Amino acid sequence: MAVNEESLVASALAARDRAYAPYSNYLVGAALLCVDGTVFTGCNVENASYGLTCCAERTAVFKAVSEGHQQFLAIAVATETGASCCGACRQVLSEFSTDGALPVLLAAADGEFTRTTIGELLPGAFDGSIL
Ligand code: THU
Repeated sequence: MAVNEESLVASALAARDRAYAPYSNYLVGAALLCVDGTVFTGCNVENASYGLTCCAERTAVFKAVSEGHQQFLAIAVATETGASCCGACRQVLSEFSTDGALPVLLAAADGEFTRTTIGELLPGAFDGSIL
């Protein structure tokens, strides 16, 4: 990828600094790399009505799609410890990686990261092609 893994992780870490998480204090950032090299970032945005919270990954996906981007090369997700994505975000990412090959970089606050794929994170994703 033109944007390397380290810079995508750096973008996710920077997005994490913008998290709005006064209820959980669990800060998450994401950076989604599009095929044309554009990077869309996202952070979690919480609400006093807790169920209205949007995760960082979905913020990034919705920003990208609403700006006309639907093909992605990778996503980096930054948390304190390098934790993985929730099920809802796995399903949303799977929508745009029907073969499951999308790389997911799980980064910790110190910049260390591990690599997986959306297919590994969500085998058997609900597939819209049956609708
Ligand atoms: N969160 C994310 O942003 N991404 C995930 O994949 C897991 C959870 C957020 C939602 C909420 O603001 C906080 O983390 C605690 O669940």
